Amino acid sequence: MNEILEKIKKIAIVPVVLLEDAKDARPLAEALCDGGLPCAEVTFRTEAAQEGIRVMTEEFPEMLVGAGTVLTMEQADRAIAAGAKFIVSPGLNPKVVRHCLDQGMTMLPGTATPSDVERAMEFGLDVVKFFPAEAAGGLEMIKALAAPYVSMKFMPTGGINEKNLRSYLDFPKVLACGGSWMVKGELIKTGRFDEIRKLAEKAVALARR
Ligand code: 3PG
Repeated sequence: MNEILEKIKKIAIVPVVLLEDAKDARPLAEALCDGGLPCAEVTFRTEAAQEGIRVMTEEFPEMLVGAGTVLTMEQADRAIAAGAKFIVSPGLNPKVVRHCLDQGMTMLPGTATPSDVERAMEFGLDVVKFFPAEAAGGLEMIKALAAPYVSMKFMPTGGINEKNLRSYLDFPKVLACGGSWMVKGELIKTGRFDEIRKLAEKAVALARR
């Protein structure tokens, strides 16, 4: 596992961020860092993603910032140019995976089936996203997938919250969990960054328990 994946493992939770406005990147990063969760996967679902990543990586060097919902090579290039340290996608697009790996990027493609995992293995990957985690079978499905693919580790994302986080993290093949519960779009839009800090603190406490 490379250094970036080791960092993700140590942090244990990857906040999945949707930024409507790049001006929110700074207070959001501050809230996450103050809450002890210096990490963000900024999703390319909005135009603000690229600028948000740039602001976070430049102004918060202690933070591990990646790009999410990367669906095309062009988005991957924009994420990398902005300083993203890892790339996440909901599914496994072989062209996008190849493109990112060729540039030495840490890539976590989404998987939900045995065939997806085998395709990831063909690329030499030993960590994948498991998405949409709860809808695709949750922890039971990860356990079932981990049985044949003994060297694979998973980052479940989708439907994870304060209630089920601990059970995922307790399974040794789970590297970390992704989720938006501490950075809900509504909290960002309405500037409730202190609430985000508190939710981040709570998430970190749960992960450490
Ligand atoms: C997403 O794609 O939005 C992420 O998987 C986050 O899912 P969540 O909002 O259920 O945490």
